[in-house]
Amino acid sequence: MPHGRITGWATHLPEKVLTNDELAKIVDTSDEWIRERTGISTRHVDGTVTEMSTEAGRSAMAMAGVAADDIDLLLLASCTSDQQFPASASVVQHNLGLTCGAIDMNAACSGFVYGLVTAMQYIDGGLDRVLLIGSDALSPLIDWADRGTCVLFGDGAGAVVIERSAEEPSLLGWDLMSDGSAAGILYCDHGGKIVMNGQEVFRRAVLAMESAARKAMEQAAVTSDDIALVVPHQANVRIIEASFKRLGLTMDRAAMVLHRTGNTSAASIPLAMVDAIDAGRIQQGDLLLLVGFGAGMSSAAAVIRWDAPAR
Ligand code: ACO
Repeated sequence: MPHGRITGWATHLPEKVLTNDELAKIVDTSDEWIRERTGISTRHVDGTVTEMSTEAGRSAMAMAGVAADDIDLLLLASCTSDQQFPASASVVQHNLGLTCGAIDMNAACSGFVYGLVTAMQYIDGGLDRVLLIGSDALSPLIDWADRGTCVLFGDGAGAVVIERSAEEPSLLGWDLMSDGSAAGILYCDHGGKIVMNGQEVFRRAVLAMESAARKAMEQAAVTSDDIALVVPHQANVRIIEASFKRLGLTMDRAAMVLHRTGNTSAASIPLAMVDAIDAGRIQQGDLLLLVGFGAGMSSAAAVIRWDAPAR
């Protein structure tokens, strides 16, 4: 049976960079506090989902060597669609000249892994090529007077082309979860700004990441010893450290871009994954564990075998 594999990838960050020192001029905070408590030094702001997604999607398609007509479905994982409607996916579809269906998926920061698992099902169901984009513009939703949230978030996008292939499956195990009873600890109302109970999100995030990762690895019949690289959602380095400790993982196996991007929600996992590929940290046949959590509270994990075509 043919299965999906990733054949092209790219990211996009808006030009404008906001440093911790610049934030310290707006709210009562400091570079030292932000770096120590979160691991973040800079973040990119003033992006839009449609622009960032278009750039990342176009570059990922060029890398995969696929034309607009070749894409059978566009999945856009985002919780910050530029408009209430239409879906940002429709705008991106037009920008890229695609001739296929296009949908937004909102699973907050877990969106890219939700999208990856969903794309793989579409491929197993008969589609040849899916363009998956994780993209969020959180900067317009930030209350710049709230030091508990404004230091955390940024904007960005990451895209992958997933193609049908005769090879072995690359998605070996996965877990998707949601706990709607915690919806009130992190939310943004229509027309409002991000509201968050940081400590409660932190506590639940560590447990959710551990649980999702364990379930995906169990389904893949692997242990943390078999994982070459973990690509965790980039929200706070201390959340990653705490969940790694529970999973028996060391931080040298983490893909990290948090220090320069902040939390970019659905873009954070592809941003970290592509950074690791560019740094030569992912080799053919490596097992990767992608694991995230977010508002909802959603959580998701996937174990994939890296089997991109040789270039
Ligand atoms: N600068 C300086 N001091 C600050 C700042 C800041 N930016 N933010 C909070 N503080 C203060 C607090 O006011 C508090 O002061 P007090 O003791 O005088 O009351 C003190 O620091 C400690 O506050 P805590 O909330 O206990 O700080 P904590 O160590 O928990 O760090 C943080 C706060 C960084 C928000 C942390 O709780 C966290 O990362 N939570 C998870 C957030 C997260 O991952 N959100 C994204 C989820 S993904 C999604 O779906 C978008």
